[in-house]
Amino acid sequence: MLLSSLYQKISNRFKTLSHIDQPQVDAKILICHILKLDLAEFITRLANLEVKQEDMNKIETLVLKREQGKSVASIIGQKAFYDLALSVNDEVLIPRPETEVLIEAILQNQNINELKCALDIGAGSGAITLTLAQHLPKLTIDALEKSPDACKVIHTNLDKYPELKKQIRIINQDFFIFQPDQIYDLIVSNPPYTPTAQTILLKENKIIDDPLMALDGGLDGLQFYRKITQFVNQFLKVGGWLALEHGFDQQKQIIELFSANNYEIQTLKDLSSQDRGLLLQKKR
Ligand SMILES: C[S@@+](CC[C@H](N)C(=O)[O-])C[C@H]1O[C@@H](n2cnc3c(N)ncnc32)[C@H](O)[C@@H]1O
Repeated sequence: MLLSSLYQKISNRFKTLSHIDQPQVDAKILICHILKLDLAEFITRLANLEVKQEDMNKIETLVLKREQGKSVASIIGQKAFYDLALSVNDEVLIPRPETEVLIEAILQNQNINELKCALDIGAGSGAITLTLAQHLPKLTIDALEKSPDACKVIHTNLDKYPELKKQIRIINQDFFIFQPDQIYDLIVSNPPYTPTAQTILLKENKIIDDPLMALDGGLDGLQFYRKITQFVNQFLKVGGWLALEHGFDQQKQIIELFSANNYEIQTLKDLSSQDRGLLLQKKR
C-alpha cells in the first residue's frame, strides 16, 4: 500500500476513538517507527513509498495497541524529555512537558551551582534526575523510587547516558519509610497526585495509560505532599530548595500545607498557563 494511503487509513481509524486526541500525529509516529523514517523523510516519501506487507503487519500490531489505549511513547519505548531521549515502558509514567517547567525553574535559580546534593522523590523513568545531573555536573542526586521495575528503567537510561552514573544513586525504597543518610540542598518531586477515584476512572476510560502507582495520590490526591512537608523539616537544609509539581487545581491546598513552616514560595505555571508547581526555599 502507498504510504499516503496507509497514513490516511490509520489516521481515520484513530479519529473515531475518543481517547486519541492527536490521530494524525500518532499515526505518523507509529509508521515512522517501523519504517525507520524521520519526519522530513516521511513527508517527502508520502506519495511514492510502497509499504511492504511485512512492515504493514508490524505497523498494524502497534496500531492495535494504540487503539486499546496504550500510549504512543510506551508502544515505541521512547520519549523526549527536555534535552534527553529516554527509554520508557509500561512500568513508568511517560515524562510530560509539564514537568519540564519544574526543571526550568530549578535551572534558573541563581544559587543552583552551589547545590551539592539532591533527592528526586518518585523518580520514575529518571526524567528529572538525569536532566538535572546532565545540566549540573557538580550535583549528586539520590533517585528514590518504590517500583523495582521503574528502577530498572532508570538503570537502562543511565546506560544510555553513562557519564551521569557517577552523580546518581538509585534507591529502591518506599518514600513513606525512607530514612536518608544525608540532608539535602535540593528536594524535587513530581509525586503521584491524582485522587484515587479519578485515577480509577482515567484508567478505566483508557485516558491515561501510566501505572497506577505513578498516579494515585490517595483519597484527595495530597498524601505525598503531606508527607513531604514533614520530610523537608528534617531532611532539607536551611536555605535549601524544594521543587514540586502538582495538579492544576491543588496549588492553594499545597501552599496551605507549607504555611505553618517558614518557606518562601514561588508559584509555577505550565505551558497551558495552568498552575502546575511550586518552588520553595526553606528560611529556617
Ligand atoms: C508521577 S510519577 C513521576 C515520575 C518521574 N519523576 C517524572 O516526573 O516523570 C511518580 C513516581 O512515584 C513513584 N512512587 C509512587 N509511590 C511511591 C512511594 N511510596 N515511594 C517512592 N516512589 C513512589 C511511582 O512509581 C512513580 O514512578
